[in-house]
Amino acid sequence: MNKISTDIQQAVAFLTEGRLVGIPTETVYGLAANALDPLAVARIFEAKRRPTFDPLIVHVPDFKAVSLYVKNIPAPLEAIAKAFWPGPVTLLFEKKDIIPDLVTSGLETVAIRVPNHPLTLELLAALDFPLAAPSANPFGYISPTTAQHVVDQLENEVSMVLDGGPCSIGVESTILQWSGGKIKVLRWGGLSVDDLAAFNAQIEVNTHSTSNPTAPGMLTSHYSPRKKMKLVSSISQINEVENQRIGFLTWTSKSENPMHLTLSETGNVAEASQNLFSFLRKLDAMDIDLIIAEKVPDIGLGKAINDRLTRAAAE
Ligand code: TXA
Ligand code: MG
Repeated sequence: MNKISTDIQQAVAFLTEGRLVGIPTETVYGLAANALDPLAVARIFEAKRRPTFDPLIVHVPDFKAVSLYVKNIPAPLEAIAKAFWPGPVTLLFEKKDIIPDLVTSGLETVAIRVPNHPLTLELLAALDFPLAAPSANPFGYISPTTAQHVVDQLENEVSMVLDGGPCSIGVESTILQWSGGKIKVLRWGGLSVDDLAAFNAQIEVNTHSTSNPTAPGMLTSHYSPRKKMKLVSSISQINEVENQRIGFLTWTSKSENPMHLTLSETGNVAEASQNLFSFLRKLDAMDIDLIIAEKVPDIGLGKAINDRLTRAAAE
């Protein structure tokens, strides 16, 4: 049976029954379930083989809905939400009891965002509960940016995948916390941290705590292809590499080699982030032993791309 569909009413019916539905967002596809139903949420962890110490993001239709699930809304987070939602930024709040502990892995904080995709916004507005949704990939593997990617790996686990086309951003949301009078960046993502400059707050980057893996996509090895992968700062002489069993993922340089994919020939980071995960999947499916990937400039969205490449290449 083809599980890819654009039928929102069908998605509402499945989710109301506690089943799993793949949903499109502007960042990556999510594997969604009723966030208020612990049994439905448990199915997400099971389907992804995700360790229960890794908490989920709760998706709501608009900023107004946040107060149903959190004890208070710090003013700086309200300002950020109002500026960037719907959009690729997730915010941490102190949770109310209505959010099951399984969603937050026992943490007192819950991660919330309003995704910017018309189908999913329509879906969220039609439901009377929010959606817990991690990226719709087996734990640790490359995130999905098309409905087909979800079906490729989780066909038996989902009741359907709502098809919203390819994701416009292509990397996960930026995760922020307000703590100690500062904005803490817990994960680089689709919102460039440069865009926070207008808030005049001190910004602290806290994305590399491998000792505390309750934190976001922070596991050193994540987003990984099955093939071995090596990350380099720059690939200058790609045509001189003799070994035919290497696939290349470069920033702007191109070649005739069919096993060489270019993130953006014009050097556009938005295009590079759209291509990132689907190109990694393509390379992973090729008959090669090794993927050599090149970093992109470490500015704006480039930080999120480099973060994903670094974790994908980690052993
Ligand atoms: O763009 C996105 O954020 C996508 C789409 C589907 O919305 N979702 C996504 O979910 O990337 P996931 O589960 O792959 O990554 C969510 C990250 C996890 O690494 C988790 O550790 C972190 O968010 N997280 C969730 N709740 C948290 C909390 N209370 N404190 C710290 N980190 C949290
Ligand atoms: Mg993920």
